[in-house]
Amino acid sequence: AIKGFVFDLDGVVTDTSRYHAKAWGQLADKLGVNYPNLGDAVKGISRMDALEMILKKGGLENNYSAAEKEKLATEKNDNYVQLIQHMTPNDILPGMAAFLKELQANDYGIALASASKNAPTILDKIGLKDVFTKIVDPATLSHGKPDPEIFVKGAQLLDLKPEQCIGLEDAAAGITAINAANEVSVGIGSKDLLHEADINFADTEDVTLANIKAAMQ
Ligand code: BG6
Ligand code: MG
Repeated sequence: AIKGFVFDLDGVVTDTSRYHAKAWGQLADKLGVNYPNLGDAVKGISRMDALEMILKKGGLENNYSAAEKEKLATEKNDNYVQLIQHMTPNDILPGMAAFLKELQANDYGIALASASKNAPTILDKIGLKDVFTKIVDPATLSHGKPDPEIFVKGAQLLDLKPEQCIGLEDAAAGITAINAANEVSVGIGSKDLLHEADINFADTEDVTLANIKAAMQ
């Protein structure tokens, strides 16, 4: 039986994926790289992996030293950190605060599997620090999404087997990771993008225990 939920953050709990898209877009423009659908492509992808994707798209992967790449990634992050400064609990996506309360009331485990090093800051700003006390530290990962490692570690933090967990994601790379971890995957957003998910919801508002149970029958 399902006993825990392992959450992605950006694009699932709060709408920060548009800020990531904006900050990466600014950097891609500066580098002269045209990257259609950049916002979707970087969803779930770690900071340095996302930078490498953009450089590769522009055929620039050999044009920058490791130190220069660090600088570019820092520049993107500085812009991103500016964009999240004003976040408040009003920025929790529709239905998510209620869903988290529902999980707590029913004694489900709750863990965070976000690739973002900014996750603790965001949780603090949106008032969910006390809900997400079990956070996989992305700095400890050998491989980012789509590798299953982060979702396997999320289950471990809950003292559960992966099969006892549901993973929630808005990113194609995240759904691949959940499936490879052997958890039940819930995709939130475009079904075209998230067709590999076990269960699909168009919006965060649709994510309730009743809807998940109905979809699992
Ligand atoms: C993921 C986002 O949650 O975190 C990605 O979907 C982002 O777009 C990644 O690149 C890493 O975030 P950060 O905040 O550590 O640069
Ligand atoms: Mg996400």
